[in-house]
Amino acid sequence: MYLTRLSLQHFRNYGHQQIQLGAAKTILVGENAQGKSNLLEAVELLATLRSHRASRDRDLVQQGQSQAVITASVERQTSPQALAMVLRHSGGRTLRLNGETLRRQLDFLGALNAVQFSSLDLDLVRGGPAERRTWLDTLLLQLEPVYAHLLSQYNQVLKQRNALIKQPPVAQGENLPAPAQLALWDAQLASLGTQVMRRRRRALERLAPLAHRWHQAISGEREALTLTYQPNVPMERDDPASIQASFLEKIQQRAIAEQQQRTTLVGPHRDDISFDINAAPSRHYGSQGQQRTLVLALKLAELYLIEEVIGDPPLLLLDDVLAELDLYRQNQLLEAIQDRFQTLITTTHLGSFDSQWMERSQILTVQAGQIDGGSACLH
Ligand SMILES: Nc1ncnc2c1ncn2[C@@H]1O[C@H](COP(=O)(O)OP(=O)(O)O)[C@@H](O)[C@H]1O
Ligand SMILES: [Mg+2]
Repeated sequence: MYLTRLSLQHFRNYGHQQIQLGAAKTILVGENAQGKSNLLEAVELLATLRSHRASRDRDLVQQGQSQAVITASVERQTSPQALAMVLRHSGGRTLRLNGETLRRQLDFLGALNAVQFSSLDLDLVRGGPAERRTWLDTLLLQLEPVYAHLLSQYNQVLKQRNALIKQPPVAQGENLPAPAQLALWDAQLASLGTQVMRRRRRALERLAPLAHRWHQAISGEREALTLTYQPNVPMERDDPASIQASFLEKIQQRAIAEQQQRTTLVGPHRDDISFDINAAPSRHYGSQGQQRTLVLALKLAELYLIEEVIGDPPLLLLDDVLAELDLYRQNQLLEAIQDRFQTLITTTHLGSFDSQWMERSQILTVQAGQIDGGSACLH
């Protein structure tokens, strides 16, 4: 798929800006704090409805404005799509696809697919389990948009259950005695949680061999990467009934600890994923170079998995990371994406790239929320 036009209105530091994308690679060059990452963030929002940099929509709206509008044209193998997203300072979004306002957010997912790679992704290896869960969830909702719905239902039940556990005993249960009320939430938590975990496991099982292969290619065959799902609830068998049973059993086992800590201790909100290099946990033993190789392999695996599942190559968004890769890894990346995956690249210096990156690239200059799109060098 190709993003051919992107327009931003009161988004971050952009007033009114429209760009046409005319090449497989677009390089956005500019000093710090000019709006390069903001532009990639807009694309990320269209692809995932999420931003890895902002948790509230009000941060995305230009200061002093009440709403931001992102629109885009995407060429697909099937048919062209017109995307529009309205973000409000007061919260609440409007999503439009081909002129039609969507009732369900998840119907927007899949109109555009993208894999984002920024220096923050090194936190996948170094950071805590929450980072890895968010990463996997963001991938999953592109692979299976219905996952977004499932996950939000799970989080809703989790929130309600936590609220119930936090209540002092006297205030509990107007209609039902607390244990019976809790049992209802437990059943829902186990049912939705099981679906979340099965989808996470399935996605990782598909991603793992791709990541292994890319990692081997980039590390020069010397290293073997394994991805392992570490579900919070044992999943020996794959059938939902037995996973739900072990879910409920674990809730029983953790009941006392839960009363003490007053929060839900069992479920996929406590999952983790381990990345091991030659059977050693990468977060403890990996050098920075190894960690970078690992994240690059993960990103390439994501790219190829989305292509395989969706049947159309997604976009790759490289935010300030290319210059950090040595020339060997830059070339590996170049070979992996060829011209098949449209790539948007941000950088402060063009000089740190292998010259091959510049060939057939469109170069845009970003300065204070303005993009100068003159210089397309088409060889
Ligand atoms: N909601 C907003 N309204 C106005 N300006 C914003 C908003 N959010 C971020 N900015 C500005 O955007 C700039 C950062 O843009 P960014 O894309 O991260 O820079 P870079 O070019 O370094 O990637 C900063 O100057 C910041 O003040
Ligand atoms: Mg930036």
